[in-house]
Amino acid sequence: MPSEPATLKVESMRVLLIGGGGREHAIAEAIARSKKNPQLFAAMSKKNPGIARLCRDFLLVKETDPAIVDYALVNKIELAVIGPEAPLAAGIPDSLWNAGIPVVGPRRPAAQIEFDKAWARNFMKKYNIAGCPEFRVFRKGETGTDEFIDELGDVVIKPAGLTGGKGVRVMGDHFDIDGARAYAREVLKNDGLVIEKRLIGEEFTVQAFVDGRTLAFAPAVQDHKRAYEGDKGPNTGGMGSYSDSKDILPFMIESDYTDAKKIMEDTVHAIWKETGVPYQGILYGQFMATEKGISVIEFNARFGDPEAMNTLPLLDNDFLDVCTGIVKGTLDSIRVMFKKQSTVCKYAVPEGYPDNPVKDSVIETTGVNNALLFYSSVYEKDSIIYTTGSRALAVLGIAGTIREAEKIAQAGLSGLRGKLYSRQDIGTDELINKRVRHMEDLRIKARYHNMH
Ligand code: AMP
Ligand code: GLY
Repeated sequence: MPSEPATLKVESMRVLLIGGGGREHAIAEAIARSKKNPQLFAAMSKKNPGIARLCRDFLLVKETDPAIVDYALVNKIELAVIGPEAPLAAGIPDSLWNAGIPVVGPRRPAAQIEFDKAWARNFMKKYNIAGCPEFRVFRKGETGTDEFIDELGDVVIKPAGLTGGKGVRVMGDHFDIDGARAYAREVLKNDGLVIEKRLIGEEFTVQAFVDGRTLAFAPAVQDHKRAYEGDKGPNTGGMGSYSDSKDILPFMIESDYTDAKKIMEDTVHAIWKETGVPYQGILYGQFMATEKGISVIEFNARFGDPEAMNTLPLLDNDFLDVCTGIVKGTLDSIRVMFKKQSTVCKYAVPEGYPDNPVKDSVIETTGVNNALLFYSSVYEKDSIIYTTGSRALAVLGIAGTIREAEKIAQAGLSGLRGKLYSRQDIGTDELINKRVRHMEDLRIKARYHNMH
């Protein structure tokens, strides 16, 4: 564990939030709710009105700019919380720690688990972490991809570096075997890549607070990556997400969740061993529930967006207590609890998103009824809010059941005005039952194969 910085105290803590999207608005709200009377500062690339409203001061700056460290020092920041992946990959936490400022967000060697997919898979293999699909890493310019694609038959191709979720291509969804071969060759001209076996099942996310040694887990969430209803259309950052009033989702079995937790614990302990750096921040495990149990799709070194919006409003603890536990390595002394409620989050995105989004278009909110509203990639100018071309606003319904939470989210969407689009189907019985049936079918088929 790093030594405890002398400046860390909990009364009226001066906190710096880095990032300006919907996830960061949810983090800002969690900080603002703290009983410790925090003073919030933010560093973001555009003025997010939801975050700006909660801040004592903010800096408009690229979220990877080292000027953030100077801003933190000048403002006597005592704790920094990093939202997105780019500042992690840029080593902003390392610079802040070096300047004596504790950070929720792993330092660069530990954050590699997200920003270098080739490193992540090799690391999983080296430490025998469960749930790793069959894969091979190819370095820039290397040959032999055709043969490996033929050997696996059904593949996913992932550029090694960060691509904002847009570089990953899945056979069946995005290309056939010839297309896969061609894409692999194209990527290898500029980057390394991972070719791995395509997993069939249902995806879920588990997020955890991590202090290097101890993990405190949030309930599972399911995101919806596809732009259009019925899971059609291009991949996006996530159109919406839901969680249930218990740790697992309706299509999951208990062991999916306990296995995911064990994999994440093993991963955190192995990261310290491999890099010499404790993982301090949020770990996001993306899993596929398959007929044979769970597999790891990827790890992210941060909260999900939108998943942070499902999770943080249900946190029963004071978020700054949890953050203090993370940076001090004392998370084992805190009982982290979430309210036993269901959530449905729906994004309103600019019309045409993600391929041809309407940019710089005025949006208004006339109230979101009983939903919570989160501002994402929008900007405010002269008190008017505009779209940027990325996901704009999110609404969150919280209730005893997913069905009720979905209704609240829909009522929230009805208060948004502008050239916006949302998926109406997220969180509906119809879509959830489809997922449940999909997993039941896979499990029945697996049992049948085992018997014959
Ligand atoms: P990633 O950027 O790694 O999250 O990948 C984006 C999306 O690609 C995931 O959310 C999955 O839907 C899909 N994906 C990634 N890896 C696999 C895999 N091995 N099998 C099936 N789908 C995958
Ligand atoms: N919602 C997917 C992610 O944040 O990576």
